[in-house]
Amino acid sequence: MRRAGVLTGGGDSPGINAAIRAIVRFGYKQEVETIGFLEGWKGPIDDLTRPLKVDDVSGILHIGGTILGSSRTNPFKIEGGVERILNTLKHNAIDFLIGIGGDDTLGVTHRLSEHGVKAIGIPQTIDNDISMTDYSIGFASALGVVTDALDRLHTTAFSHHRVLILEVMGRDSGWLSLLGGIAGGADVIIIPEQEFSAEEVHKKILRRQARKKHFSIIIIAEGARPVGWEGQVVSETKVDAFGHVRLGGVGQYLANQLSEQMKIPLRVTNLAYLQRGGSPTSFDRILATRFGAAAIEFALDGRFDVMTALHGTKIEPVSLEDALSTPRPVDPGLRYLLTLFE
Ligand code: F6P
Repeated sequence: MRRAGVLTGGGDSPGINAAIRAIVRFGYKQEVETIGFLEGWKGPIDDLTRPLKVDDVSGILHIGGTILGSSRTNPFKIEGGVERILNTLKHNAIDFLIGIGGDDTLGVTHRLSEHGVKAIGIPQTIDNDISMTDYSIGFASALGVVTDALDRLHTTAFSHHRVLILEVMGRDSGWLSLLGGIAGGADVIIIPEQEFSAEEVHKKILRRQARKKHFSIIIIAEGARPVGWEGQVVSETKVDAFGHVRLGGVGQYLANQLSEQMKIPLRVTNLAYLQRGGSPTSFDRILATRFGAAAIEFALDGRFDVMTALHGTKIEPVSLEDALSTPRPVDPGLRYLLTLFE
């Protein structure tokens, strides 16, 4: 019998529990038992564990969030953090560790490999900003929420002849904004990969008004940069343990700029944490299940310091170092979609 440790770190998203369930169930079939570490990297630092037997993962497939809890703890920023993790892994007789999360969590997973830990990563982030995988767990579910929000905003924008702005997450990547904007029929789509100017947005709205369209929907990514700005609009300047500020407020910034020029009513909705919550879509349940099973398979094949990745319809291992060494902006080949419906 081998022993796997699993933890979930960073911002949660729907589908994580489906991955944990697959690790435990597929592992059980392969004679691997699983121990869960609680609250991200805090778990192995402080030896916070819970056993994960087949019965413990029953009934969690459709539930959002993570049964293990999460945090943005960075062991490399804590005195003795790495040594404590190594001790915990030894003390719990862990043969290999599976880290489920975004770039920060996967970054620690990779760095621990350099300390001799046999580790595997599973990409999970609604931002979809992990390179070398077509999708990360959670993105498809968040996209569904964004699409639904835009559908709802459409009916009220139409009724009241308003300009409505929807701000969505994504950090430095515009996947949620671009694909959500396309799926939900937004009239103006703004992503972090291209600077925006309020004047240009205003012109687009005027063009719609000239076509007797008395309402407009704008979708804007939290990381979008106004022309000439070096930084982004932040809701909190304090950085977390991985050096990130909290983004937020660019929708209101744009509204303030536009309201000085426009005579029609303008309102902002920030979708915020609603897009990280709720049940995973079937796509995310299947992706997470396949990623979970693949992580066990890679471990049994002795493939470590890798991440599960979706390439077309196949799940393959990719080097964590390679995946983490490049950011993943919106594919330039998709950017024609930004202006297709203007
Ligand atoms: O990385 C996922 C994410 O949801 C980002 O889109 C967002 O900027 C960030 O997390 C919010 O982080 P927190 O949960 O720390 O507020």
